[in-house]
Amino acid sequence: MLLHATDEEGGTGGMTDRQLRDEAMTIFLAGHETTANALTWTWYLLSQHPDAEARLHAEVDALGGRLPAIDDLPKLTYTEKLLAESMRLYPPAWLLGYRAIRDYPVGRYVIPKGGIVLMSQYVMHHDPRYYPDPFRFDPERWEPAAKAVRPKFSYFPFGGGPRVCIGESFAWMEGILLIATLAQRWRLRLVPGHPVVLQPLITLRPKHGMMMTAERR
Ligand code: HEM
Repeated sequence: MLLHATDEEGGTGGMTDRQLRDEAMTIFLAGHETTANALTWTWYLLSQHPDAEARLHAEVDALGGRLPAIDDLPKLTYTEKLLAESMRLYPPAWLLGYRAIRDYPVGRYVIPKGGIVLMSQYVMHHDPRYYPDPFRFDPERWEPAAKAVRPKFSYFPFGGGPRVCIGESFAWMEGILLIATLAQRWRLRLVPGHPVVLQPLITLRPKHGMMMTAERR
């Protein structure tokens, strides 16, 4: 698709090899590193919270043993809450930086042209105004009624506005289906004594990896 894509508005025809390579790299990095981190933190949280793990197992077992598919997404509501809560506590993209292209007033401040604005998902997602006891893992924060009273940008793992993540819907779909598919057969246990330390680079990684043992259910 990328090889055949042409820019009709710009009139520049197809992409150069360099542009094509850059586009492919963006999809690999933006689309894999983020999801991989989201899933890593989710398995870690499940290993620490047996009650949540039991609810996940009950939900996936209700599918009757067949592989979860797109049509099952509406039934996987607890799995979705788990992923949402995991990306609240450990947002794979934890900081966004933007540069103002002109003077821009925000309340009683003006961000000067060229000024850099940093917005941190990690900080916002741990703000006790929106998430009481913010470091506590609680998938029930994602009950529709609880969600409805929070302001929209109290949660923005995928950014927002015109440059919001283009892969957001895909990421929810693959994330939920991957958790459900793996949880049908496996549970992951943290290797005793393995240190879990945050490493905030471009994405939020576990500094020492996440050493886990896969056990058949
Ligand atoms: C859990 C998974 C993911 C997270 C947390 C995530 C997060 C983000 C964030 C925060 C941004 C920047 C948005 C902004 O500047 O406001 C972004 C951009 C982007 N994401 Fe994702 N993403 C995920 C999955 C994906 C997937 C699966 C794809 C593609 C298959 C993808 C492709 C992109 C691309 C191409 C951009 C750049 C968009 C642009 O600048 O116009 N992402 N993502």
